[in-house]
Amino acid sequence: MLTLTSEAMYGTNRSVVSEFVFLGMTNTWEIQLLLFVFTFLFYFASMIGNLVIVLTVTLDVHLKSPLYFLLANLSVLDMIFCSITAPKMICDIFKEHKTISFWGCITQIFFSHAVGGTEMVLLIAMTFDRYVAICKPLHYLSVMSPRVCLFFLVTSWVIGLTHSVVQLVFVVGLPFCGPHTLDSFYCDLPRLLRLACTNTQALELMVTVNSGLISVGSFLLLVISYIFILFIVWKHSTGGLSKALSTLSAHVTVVVLFFGPLMFFYTWPSPTSHLDKYLAIFDAFITPFLNPVIYTFRNKDMKVAMGRVWGYLRPYREMS
Ligand SMILES: *[C@@H]1O[C@H](CO)[C@@H](O)[C@H](O)[C@H]1NC(C)=O
Repeated sequence: MLTLTSEAMYGTNRSVVSEFVFLGMTNTWEIQLLLFVFTFLFYFASMIGNLVIVLTVTLDVHLKSPLYFLLANLSVLDMIFCSITAPKMICDIFKEHKTISFWGCITQIFFSHAVGGTEMVLLIAMTFDRYVAICKPLHYLSVMSPRVCLFFLVTSWVIGLTHSVVQLVFVVGLPFCGPHTLDSFYCDLPRLLRLACTNTQALELMVTVNSGLISVGSFLLLVISYIFILFIVWKHSTGGLSKALSTLSAHVTVVVLFFGPLMFFYTWPSPTSHLDKYLAIFDAFITPFLNPVIYTFRNKDMKVAMGRVWGYLRPYREMS
């Protein structure tokens, strides 16, 4: 489990730990079974729900509007996001030794931060899209032109990737020489940094600032935008407020569920409690599942389009 290589043999003083061991969530068989059923169902439902959205937006000729392009992109991100840690966790639940290689661990961290960061920026772009649609309906198509949509998309990825690379550049060179158990079911920075056999205080601060800033910053920006949109709707219409309230309250729920745990991980001074492990379940399983439910299945046009796409596909299904 612990591969010790001598410095002289390999001429390197970097990692001597080649893999890490997850402690997982629990050792009780009944709870493991419950966790397995729960995570498997949520993972499966998230993948199917988001795939249906991507297929519907891609195949339906009537859904060619910026909102749906952004939604389909969000679904793609959700599918990647929940595939980073969930399948390994599900396969590991009943295993005695849950191990992950050093580079496996780095890969998990890289993708979860890159995709998570991208998703946060995309959520902001979607709120801007809603702002334009609700407050400047006559200019909607000219403001949210295909070029602007593409710009939002590229910006999201650039910010997400930069955020992730900047943190990891410092982590891959750290020496890991002794303890190698992670009290978790996936790799993430705060726990990994505590295993390094060097002083990582400065790095921990950098991670807190970097991840904390992007999550708290996006969260505040989103909440302020929602309040702003509601305020404008409230001032300009009489009947629209309750409808806007119901749509936006659903969005706020997703945002709180997604950002709440993240802000807790990265800004809490000493994340030694077990609480963060359970909160992580929310981000890994519940949010990717809720996004399609809230953004899409409550949307009338989307439901009609799904029916149409199902109709196109029928002849092909019957032929095969
Ligand atoms: C993502 O957004 C871009 C830009 O609007 C769009 O061209 C692309 O089709 C979207 N992706 C999906 C899967 O719909």
